Amino acid sequence: VKKIAVLTSGGDSQGMNAAVRAVVRSGLYFGLEVYGVQRGYQGLLNNDIFPMDLRSVGDIIHRGGTVLQSARCKEFRTLEGQQKGAQILRDRGIDGLIVIGGDGSYQGANKLSQQGINTMGLPGTIDNDISFTDHTIGFDTAVSVVVDAINKLRDTMSSHERSSIVEVMGRHCGDIALHAGLASGAETILVPEVEFNMDEVAERMKQNFAHGKRHSIIIVAEGVGKGEDVAAELVKRFPTNDPRVTVLGHIQRGGTPTAFDRNLASRLGDFAVRQLIEGQSDKACGIIKGELVATDINTVVSTKKPFNMDLYELALRLSQ
Ligand code: F6P
Repeated sequence: VKKIAVLTSGGDSQGMNAAVRAVVRSGLYFGLEVYGVQRGYQGLLNNDIFPMDLRSVGDIIHRGGTVLQSARCKEFRTLEGQQKGAQILRDRGIDGLIVIGGDGSYQGANKLSQQGINTMGLPGTIDNDISFTDHTIGFDTAVSVVVDAINKLRDTMSSHERSSIVEVMGRHCGDIALHAGLASGAETILVPEVEFNMDEVAERMKQNFAHGKRHSIIIVAEGVGKGEDVAAELVKRFPTNDPRVTVLGHIQRGGTPTAFDRNLASRLGDFAVRQLIEGQSDKACGIIKGELVATDINTVVSTKKPFNMDLYELALRLSQ
């Protein structure tokens, strides 16, 4: 490859900028021409493509969001859209594309590779729901945001001896809930991967208060349902409990990326460029046990990420 482009797609995540920076600077270092695509696949179809130099990615490593902006694009799900996108890249002489995003973005990259474009996917999502990588870019920061919020909730909940129900993001994946729950000592973690019984949740909470706990935190992954609905079910079973619900929402997608996410993004961005130079295509880049790996995108999108039950049980053991 001689000319490559980079885009960010789907829901943004903290560390996407660090990944863009790594792609641009490594690409230039290895003698490639590097282009940015504004607004994801929508920008590609609009031919919103511009050359990037060393300075164009200055002062962004610490910023949340994505300077390339992001979009969800329906047109790109059609064959015509994919053919048009590939043609726009070919017309500009761009033969490699690095896509930073989640599952849907990976599927787009896979379709473009079927149209003859060399593609690489980088896992950019707070959800940590991509298989063949232990971490996605943004997950660590999102978990820190949740933990920070729970620290604050604890203060006021203990003063009033209340329980706190915190609804977190993650789409169909419970990883944000699990990792934030373990880190914040939550008493209950409700995730889509593990069945639960509201009677048991309520009973456990009663016991906790009876045994001297001054507050109780329930984390609800959005894949399970709404925090408000969990609160209503809880009150039915434990009427003297007066829970408060907090929906953290898009706050989880903002803020400066942690050092972990910046370093992950930097390593993965550079790795994706080197993979393209080595002639690889249609791969998703990830990190497994500290080692960088490239896996066929099709395999990645068709494999559900396993849930870490050991961690889940540990969180419950430690929060008694
Ligand atoms: O995939 C990231 C994510 O933040 C999910 O956790 C959430 O379900 C979704 O995106 C929200 O999407 P939107 O930003 O379009 O509301």
